[in-house]
Amino acid sequence: MSSQAWGEVDAYIADRLIGADAALDAALSANAAAGLPAIDVSPPQGKLLHLLARSIGAKRILEVGALGGYSTIWLARALPEGGRLVTLELEQKHADVAAANLAKAGLASRVEIRVGAALDTLPKLAEEAADPFDLAFIDADKPNNANYFAWALTLARPGSLIIVDNVVREGSVLAGTDANAAGARALFEAIAAEPRVTATAIQTVGSKGWDGFAIAIVNG
Ligand code: SAH
Ligand code: DHB
Ligand code: MG
Repeated sequence: MSSQAWGEVDAYIADRLIGADAALDAALSANAAAGLPAIDVSPPQGKLLHLLARSIGAKRILEVGALGGYSTIWLARALPEGGRLVTLELEQKHADVAAANLAKAGLASRVEIRVGAALDTLPKLAEEAADPFDLAFIDADKPNNANYFAWALTLARPGSLIIVDNVVREGSVLAGTDANAAGARALFEAIAAEPRVTATAIQTVGSKGWDGFAIAIVNG
């Protein structure tokens, strides 16, 4: 099966199970108009994140890497009344686009965007000693994946889910020599060495090519 067919099947899935969605469609258009790279999760992947957040009744969600807020919208929609999502984004321009997209989606009051390098904003978040996050979605610079995983664990509670995007990277996780592939391997090593979580990774194909998610639950 070709990558073109993966995209066609993704379009079929999205047509049957997602359909037109004014806020999500507008977000992707706004991202493109602003020149943001089209590296958001796919619609079926976004809905998977939403389903996972809802399935654990997540009230507090942490995201690392907002881009234009496409995945943020999916995740924030899973929150109950009074729920909160904090998303960490390096680029002010991305954060501005995300803020506008979230406002259009009616989610501005549930979402806080913190601009800066996540390795700077995560320690500040930890210092605030707020309630733990029920779910963390890590999707920023791949070389820091193991660092972000460690922070997500620090900010979690038993039963929290930690999900990491782009851990397969067209198979380059095995032997790729670039920093992103090395980052994916470092994440697997960190998870493998971490007794406080139970984890797997699932390869995915679709409109975003061949990639995968790592999913970990924090043990009780
Ligand atoms: N989660 C988004 C896609 C994120 S793309 C979605 O699926 O819709 C990765 C994002 O991580 C980019 O916006 C990039 O600017 C951001 N990023 C890169 N390095 C970062 C860092 N050090 N700290 C926080 N965000 C970073
Ligand atoms: C890249 C980043 C992503 O988060 C993604 O889903 C796909 C690609 C990238 O940096 O190339
Ligand atoms: Mg990603």
